[in-house]
Amino acid sequence: MLNDSIHYINGSLHCDAVPVQEILAQVGSPVYVYSLKRALHNLKRIQTAFAGYDAHIHYSAKANANLTLLRHLVQGGAGIDAVSAGEIHRALLAGTAPSNIVFAGVGKTPDELAYALEKNVGWFNVENVAECGLIDSIASQVDCLPPHIALRFNPDISASTHPYIATGHGGAKFGLTADVIADLLARQSDFPNVVFAGIHLHIGSQLHDTDATRQAVSAALDLIKPYPNIRTVNIGGGLPVAYKADDPVPDFDAFAQTLAPLLKDYTVLLEPGRSIIADAGILVANTLYVKKQAGQTFVITDASMSELIRPALYQAHHEIVPLIEPADDTRYATQVVGPVCETADVLGRNILLPDMSPGEPLAILNAGAYGMVMASNYNQRLRPPEVAVMPDGQTWQITRRRETWDDLLRMEAIL
Ligand SMILES: Cc1ncc(COP(=O)(O)O)c(C=O)c1O
Repeated sequence: MLNDSIHYINGSLHCDAVPVQEILAQVGSPVYVYSLKRALHNLKRIQTAFAGYDAHIHYSAKANANLTLLRHLVQGGAGIDAVSAGEIHRALLAGTAPSNIVFAGVGKTPDELAYALEKNVGWFNVENVAECGLIDSIASQVDCLPPHIALRFNPDISASTHPYIATGHGGAKFGLTADVIADLLARQSDFPNVVFAGIHLHIGSQLHDTDATRQAVSAALDLIKPYPNIRTVNIGGGLPVAYKADDPVPDFDAFAQTLAPLLKDYTVLLEPGRSIIADAGILVANTLYVKKQAGQTFVITDASMSELIRPALYQAHHEIVPLIEPADDTRYATQVVGPVCETADVLGRNILLPDMSPGEPLAILNAGAYGMVMASNYNQRLRPPEVAVMPDGQTWQITRRRETWDDLLRMEAIL
């Protein structure tokens, strides 16, 4: 969706004050373009919504781990939620204080745990009894501060969202059941090298239902009530983004108000990803061909599922608009597809577009989250460059260049 940063000025799509055409002319397509101003504005909106709490926002780097983006969010007051040693490495490079990093993930390796402990990462969100023992044992061997543990609770609550991004139901691989958490909390002394300090939950992404989150938080609080040493509740991410104008998403204030009565006496950690960067990013593509076939109009672009897999993976909807605003309102249902050899290689189904011609560029909106981080080299395609329009809204920089064939071949030998 268009917004204050991704908008038309005099009929030409701009990212803040920068014409997207200018970026396209210099960098080529496909290209990701991010508004840092919008990302920082989104961070501020969440900080404001939770201002009445003792709340700390850890931006979820899995949504978009661009180093420039991380650096600006960290300077804006965010910590980082990391799910691998690679994300921790990026968070540290971007200037995050180790104590402001949360290390989450259902399958952390011993090497990753040792790395995180050596770096004195602040929080470990634990999802397995054996993992708890492993952290305790590694912490006894390496020179580190005692790590803070938050047990990740699976509350067995179904979030109303796409099944692939729901994580808090009983059948999901995530978290620990109430019984296991109760058992771990009762025998904290078995883990003398760690500090049990919090409980963590994340019931899914794109949460439309504040009530499911309230129920999950309430169940988590019941578990920690007997333990006055557990003063931190990490409520995960999941704040929703409207991908269509009529998406009924609750705003951040509604989330904060629903939870306020429950959490007023606790320190609250949040891990938002999508809600910070989704609507600050676009993927710009060029039209290669237009094909009318089987009663449908296909616009074939130079972007594909290898740059943005969400429509293929989750049937996700992204609005798509031409870079030059059409002169009239005539629109046709159009299938926007890429060159990859898969029928699933669709960027948009039944998108209302004007008559498109080869060479006419398009922008796929709300593409800042789970876009570039999921990009691949499938079909030996080169991952696209990333451009940041700086917080001044006027200047822009290439923060990651386009890959080359040499980049792809560097790690391979012909035997
Ligand atoms: C544990 C955890 N925290 C935070 C997030 C970020 O979620 P979102 O981008 O929906 O805010 C995720 C997403 O998968 C997650 O699994």
